Amino acid sequence: MKSETFDIGLGNNDSKTRAEASSDYVMFWEKQAKKLHWFEPWQIPLEWNAPFSRWFVGGKTNASYNALDVQNKEKTAILWEGENGDRRTVSYGQLLSQTKRLANALKSLGIQKGDRVTIYLPMVPELITSILACARIGAIHTVIFSGFSAASIRDRVFDSKSKIIITADGGYRRGNTVKLKEIVDTAIQDLDFVKNVIVLKRADIKITMNKKDLHWGDAVENSPDSCDAERLESSHPLFILYTSGTTGKPKGVLHDTGGYLTHISATFRWAFDIKDSDVYYCTADIGWVTGHSYVAYGPLICGATQVMYEGAPDYPGPARLWEIIQRYKVTILYTTPTALRMFMKFGDSIPNSFDLSSLRLLGTVGEPINPEVWKWYYTTIGKRRCPIIDTWWQTETGGMMISPLPGLETIPLKPGSGSFPIPGVDVAVVDDAGAEVKPNTRGFLIIRKPWPGMLLTLWGDDAKYKEVYWSRYPGFYYTGDYAIRDGDGYLWLLGRADDVLKVAGHRIGTAELESSLVSHHSISEAAVCGVADEIKGEAIIAFLVPKEGVAVTDVLKQEVIEQVRIQIGPIATPQQIYFVSRLPKTRSGKIMRRLLKAMARNEKIGDVSTLEDGAAVSEIQTAFDELKKQLG
Ligand code: PRX
Repeated sequence: MKSETFDIGLGNNDSKTRAEASSDYVMFWEKQAKKLHWFEPWQIPLEWNAPFSRWFVGGKTNASYNALDVQNKEKTAILWEGENGDRRTVSYGQLLSQTKRLANALKSLGIQKGDRVTIYLPMVPELITSILACARIGAIHTVIFSGFSAASIRDRVFDSKSKIIITADGGYRRGNTVKLKEIVDTAIQDLDFVKNVIVLKRADIKITMNKKDLHWGDAVENSPDSCDAERLESSHPLFILYTSGTTGKPKGVLHDTGGYLTHISATFRWAFDIKDSDVYYCTADIGWVTGHSYVAYGPLICGATQVMYEGAPDYPGPARLWEIIQRYKVTILYTTPTALRMFMKFGDSIPNSFDLSSLRLLGTVGEPINPEVWKWYYTTIGKRRCPIIDTWWQTETGGMMISPLPGLETIPLKPGSGSFPIPGVDVAVVDDAGAEVKPNTRGFLIIRKPWPGMLLTLWGDDAKYKEVYWSRYPGFYYTGDYAIRDGDGYLWLLGRADDVLKVAGHRIGTAELESSLVSHHSISEAAVCGVADEIKGEAIIAFLVPKEGVAVTDVLKQEVIEQVRIQIGPIATPQQIYFVSRLPKTRSGKIMRRLLKAMARNEKIGDVSTLEDGAAVSEIQTAFDELKKQLG
């Protein structure tokens, strides 16, 4: 692949780290782990009973201790801004004191090591306090993005059997108040195992307090602020984070403590070249993995000061993000290609009217970044001074796996390429049979050795864990992504090779969408695929077969869309719905998704000899043609 390169770096040149990693990756990760605080040292650095790993076996540590107790208590941890303009500054000392109080409150409500606690909060500092309070006592937190619906919350709380839910009366999003407490009430109405709901006051709305409910203020303020951090086994689960896959409902990705902290702290330092004076700002919501690893844990473990913003970055207008950067003198910005595409469309004059000279490093995550968007980021935002790190990773990998690392080394950057794997991580691009493909050839990305941030398993489903990630290429982790390695060894991450969509960087399974669509009483079959979208990267298109005798109307369309919003959440809203009389299927009755994908991407549809009914293809093709006309 031909590409321009940009020789901008921060002058760091530490070749020793890479050399150490390639000579013995286990010893290398041990060395990184030693930079954390351990109450007791480990005996075995890695126990690898493929595909199950345990890092730093015998070692005792605690995530909240590493994030708070070891830091300078006077230093600002969070510069918080609410969507409505509220502002707060929270020091490490204040965060520690609140965390201890909440941890005591959780203990007094009967939460013990290993119990699950669901957190459904807006982006407020108390979300970080909640996470760290769980970590402090060894409770496993499971954060749910505050844009998910009651039905989605119910599924997750049911699966994790959380005893406590921490929520707020409401949260602000685009000027609206999302009634979080009311949504939680609906979600847990038949879940008797939920013992208590702790409710933070944020939005000043009227709520009904039930028997199970406690006010955050009462729970926290009435609890003592001394609480020793629990000395936890390195492999003690830290959190469950639900994410969509190719089949069924979202699965609970389970992460450990010691391995995860090692991976996050090392990558945070290498990627962001963090200095004591930096002001870091990651725009991700903590409901997603980026927010877990690089808002909640990474910056705190490294003692950084960060900006945390509650609302949409373009609310109340397209200047909000740049205003925040100017106000807090942000030095490091980590955001998504979707956000960048949106801001690029608003035009250069908006960012150009702000002082962005504090910026020194820019990052992106979550989806492929188009080279022209990369260049815009580099030129208009970074003024050709700031390296851009395109970081590839997944909920399952815990932390970054492929990225330029300006904190470690200076390399020529290629717009749209994630460059190289981080030290200690071994990836390959392979064909169907598992053989490495030639340079500049598309293949599947796999990971060949265990890494410290890797998931422990899927919550309660070891068999699924083995099947999803370790069965396609036995012994190797299958990422589900397409990639290309170019002649210089640079990796280009091309997006999902499986039935998972990335809409505005959010991961949505087609199977989950389809089962929501067919649960409508008028729909008999559904097939969903993604089409390219100028801003969101991908948009959802649904093909629906109505039941016999059902009249196809706009009302039906709206009903079906509403159903998806209620069952999954607004992020899963289909952009277009097409009613067809049949779906292209194989003779054995399986929907030929390969064909839908190919048509959506304008690719050749290939061999269709196993297709049962050719007429279905032409019907879908007509729908795509219509769509393309609409999109111009
Ligand atoms: O397809 C890849 C894409 O996001 C997927 C993982 O999604 P999720 O678990 O939600 O985590 C997102 C945040 C880490 C991957 O399988 N992806 C992530 N980062 C990139 C990317 N695709 C291209 N370039 C990236 N930098």
